[in-house]
Amino acid sequence: RDTIRGGLLAAMSRRGDVTGVLLDPRMAIDPYPAYDWLRERGPLVPSNLGPMTTTHELVNALLRHPAVVSANARREELMLASMPPGMRWLFRGPDRTGVVDPLGAESMIGMDGPEHARLRTLVSSVFTPARVERLRPRLEEIAEELLDAAGGQGDVDVMHVLAGPLPVRAICEVLGVPPSDAERFRRWGRAGAVDLDSMAPAHEQHAATQALVELEAYFDRLISEREHTGGDDILSALIEAESEGGRLNRRELITMAVLLLFAGFETTVNLIGNGTAALLAHPEQAQDLRADPSLVPGAVEEMLRYDTPVQVVARIATRELRLGGAQVPAGEMISLLLGAANRDPAVFDDPHRFDIHRPNARRHLSFAAGPHHCLGASLARLEAQVAFAALLRRGVPRPAGEAVRRRTYILRGFERLPVALG
Ligand code: HEM
Repeated sequence: RDTIRGGLLAAMSRRGDVTGVLLDPRMAIDPYPAYDWLRERGPLVPSNLGPMTTTHELVNALLRHPAVVSANARREELMLASMPPGMRWLFRGPDRTGVVDPLGAESMIGMDGPEHARLRTLVSSVFTPARVERLRPRLEEIAEELLDAAGGQGDVDVMHVLAGPLPVRAICEVLGVPPSDAERFRRWGRAGAVDLDSMAPAHEQHAATQALVELEAYFDRLISEREHTGGDDILSALIEAESEGGRLNRRELITMAVLLLFAGFETTVNLIGNGTAALLAHPEQAQDLRADPSLVPGAVEEMLRYDTPVQVVARIATRELRLGGAQVPAGEMISLLLGAANRDPAVFDDPHRFDIHRPNARRHLSFAAGPHHCLGASLARLEAQVAFAALLRRGVPRPAGEAVRRRTYILRGFERLPVALG
């Protein structure tokens, strides 16, 4: 099935079809020239996957508009609906009946209105910026440990030694998962990240289903334990937390815990990896950062803008809208190309240039905006700041071999990124 799909996509690309360009495996290597090409066609471009946005103005307006809702819970159905019938079987995922779905209708990221607000208020009341900041010294320790274990100096694969393990250790700290389970979590989180990338090959989608089944059983046990023992972690706080709509039930709690793992893992892995790659390509800016670590938070914003870890989010307009110079249709899945918005020359001067001193880098839309603005943004920023500070303390990193991109397009990152430290 994957081979047929690959051939089909290649054929569509050759014909210059917009859908073919978007699904072309080369998008995983470098999507940015394609975005410029799409933007020349207007702010909203039709395709066999539904309309695609290309400008910062339209993406931003749609994310914040009250008549625009999340398409996550219906993403597969909507994507299939916009495809020609003959193509649909190639893109249908495995049957997930009864399996916990961290992006589905029972999850915050797939809900809207008062239901969404209820869950979001509950989690925000315990996952506060102050609690995240309290993690800083522990994350600094972990980053140092990870780099020391890698030998401290010499050639390393930064994905393997730092970008991969740090975010999973951070989520374990947040959820109160013992560090001894971090490796299992890394495997589950990696398999599950496929869920955020509906274009992934079939065997990876099956592995994601298996990971979800195992995670559900794991969290079920952990929640029972925490109900008796309590703890200074988000999971224990969520068990206790109440809002006007009452407490979270068991299924909601498990879904939330899995969402925090899936949403917070590969995304942050890719921020650290993509940011490192940007520094490797711009050693003079890495040197500036090493000389003045107070520049690191601004540099992380530019990394988020320059090489966006989540390239697309999906939305539906509940009524037809005239917005950002476009006629937005009702009821269709619209792909908001965050990566294209972040390279829009109308907002960012010379957008394809990496510049840690860029004054308006923070206007990026990498964490989305509006009601579904990334709940873990402050944790992601903290992890990246800690990772780069630790890396640069060892010197300016240099390339040490061939960097290999992951094949996923929506979650943009590296499989392998060899660097020389020190
Ligand atoms: C939502 C990006 C890290 C938890 C989102 C969304 C984006 C995003 C684009 C909106 C998705 C949509 O509306 O369809 C990122 C990036 C990250 C990151 C680029 C790292 C660089 C994290 C972390 C956590 C987290 C570390 C938590 C531990 C969430 C949650 C939502 C979310 C719970 C759903 C919020 C809602 O629906 O109200 N993130 N994220 N994210 N993110 Fe993140």
